[in-house]
Amino acid sequence: MFEKINLKIYKTKNNIESHQLIAEELKYLEKIAEQIFKKEFKIGEGEYSHVYQDILNNVCYKVATHKAQRDIHEEAEFYSKLTNKSEKVIVPEPYFSLNAKVVKTGKMSTERRVIAMQKINGANFNEILKGEKELPLNFNSESFFKDLKDFFNFMHNEVGIYHCDFADRNLMIDYDTGKPVIVDFGNSVYKSWFTIDEIKEGKQYSRGTNDLLEIEKIEQVVQLYLTRFNK
Ligand SMILES: Nc1ncnc2c1ncn2[C@@H]1O[C@H](COP(=O)(O)OP(=O)(O)OP(=O)(O)O)[C@@H](O)[C@H]1O
Ligand SMILES: [Mg+2]
Repeated sequence: MFEKINLKIYKTKNNIESHQLIAEELKYLEKIAEQIFKKEFKIGEGEYSHVYQDILNNVCYKVATHKAQRDIHEEAEFYSKLTNKSEKVIVPEPYFSLNAKVVKTGKMSTERRVIAMQKINGANFNEILKGEKELPLNFNSESFFKDLKDFFNFMHNEVGIYHCDFADRNLMIDYDTGKPVIVDFGNSVYKSWFTIDEIKEGKQYSRGTNDLLEIEKIEQVVQLYLTRFNK
């Protein structure tokens, strides 16, 4: 079913880094394409993607829509540079990114661009603020946002990455640990793409939003939500 495949594996479940696709993996991917990318398995949606879950394996698949510009491997690489870097903030671990031409008999072929990553059992803050999902009872806003800010400073200064699309829908809370989760690196940039002066002027944010200002905004809205609903 997959005709042209360009697959990059960042980390498989057994920690093997590989760029080769073995027959078994191909078979597995075909199964995913047929079974997982269905409405009933959808757990998230953005302007540029649909996110599906594979419940059995605790994996989720971000499938890019035709609108998405960025190379899917590039976004997966941002995830791979930031995952498992902190005890306090989660960045989902990417398993592989896939760019394939899907050929179905009798139909026009389509391009499938997918990032497979660790599935978070949680909610994003857009869903929470709209009342669609709940905050855990022991949620502590102060420490939650402090951890988040510390991580962003580390991400900017030590790893050299700016998110550039931070918003309530790209911030999740992990229900199992209560930790903040950062998702969606589809608009992110590397510090190294800019000169020191450009960074000082904030040019890294010129095609996106300012990470630290967005955190402040979300924090304020969450505070308001907590007082309004007496939580
Ligand atoms: N690893 C994950 N585990 C669980 N849910 C996820 C995961 N990654 C993303 N989601 C959910 O799917 C939604 C869409 O994912 P994402 O933000 O990456 O897509 P997007 O199309 O780039 O979004 P945007 O409209 O912000 O550009 C997120 O808001 C989040 O609720
Ligand atoms: Mg998003």
